Amino acid sequence: MLIVLFSFLLSVSITLQVMQIDFERLEQLAGFDIYNSSLRVRKYNRTAVALNGTIHLMVPLNESIMVTSDFFHSRLGNQQFNHYPVKFPTQQVCKFLENFYTDYSEYVDDFENLPAKGECPIKPCKIDILNKPFPAKAVPPFFPSGLWKAQIKLTLNDVEISRFELITKARNDLGI
Ligand SMILES: *[C@@H]1O[C@H](CO)[C@@H](O)[C@H](O)[C@H]1NC(C)=O
Ligand SMILES: *[C@@H]1O[C@H](CO)[C@@H](O)[C@H](O)[C@H]1NC(C)=O
Ligand SMILES: *[C@@H]1O[C@H](CO)[C@@H](O)[C@H](O)[C@H]1NC(C)=O
Ligand SMILES: *[C@@H]1O[C@H](CO)[C@@H](O)[C@H](O)[C@H]1NC(C)=O
Repeated sequence: MLIVLFSFLLSVSITLQVMQIDFERLEQLAGFDIYNSSLRVRKYNRTAVALNGTIHLMVPLNESIMVTSDFFHSRLGNQQFNHYPVKFPTQQVCKFLENFYTDYSEYVDDFENLPAKGECPIKPCKIDILNKPFPAKAVPPFFPSGLWKAQIKLTLNDVEISRFELITKARNDLGI
């Protein structure tokens, strides 16, 4: 889910110029009957990567569907991930979207076909994302460098119905 994704990105990207964060990989792992995403991390030019593709939501998402997240960190960037004790509270998907719009609308203004604010159930839709780099605002100084993996799941009655995984790389300008 795009919304969850960007919420994660923004939550780790507050304000400091010394961190550089790039998308590494984005993968939908389950729930292809719920939504179908061609969103991938692409090389944008010689130095930058961006997200590009389309998310096609195929079924309505109502207030019974919950969003949960898990974060993993690989300090050395070698794919040895440890569970990281930070979490967004589990939320209803509609509530989640509403909170997201309240906090972050400026970052998604140029996305086409986003669900309307307050829409619930969220209606099926197709969202095009064209070459979105990682939001340029950097992260707090205490944000650890390395690889970060976010797993975002949708659940219905505690059963997972879809999941995607996003990996981003964080490094500071000193290379540590
Ligand atoms: C998902 O999208 C791909 C590529 O656009 C398409 O080939 C595939 O049939 C779609 N799957 C479903 C379940 O709609
Ligand atoms: C690559 O794209 C980014 C984002 O638009 C831009 O800031 C950067 O200058 C570009 N780099 C090159 C080598 O074109
Ligand atoms: C980006 O996405 C658009 C629309 O889905 C597609 O036409 C284009 O080929 C993609 N660009 C890259 C570099 O994959
Ligand atoms: C909410 O959506 C789920 C999954 O599509 C469906 O099984 C359930 O009946 C819906 N609940 C309501 C109240 O519409």
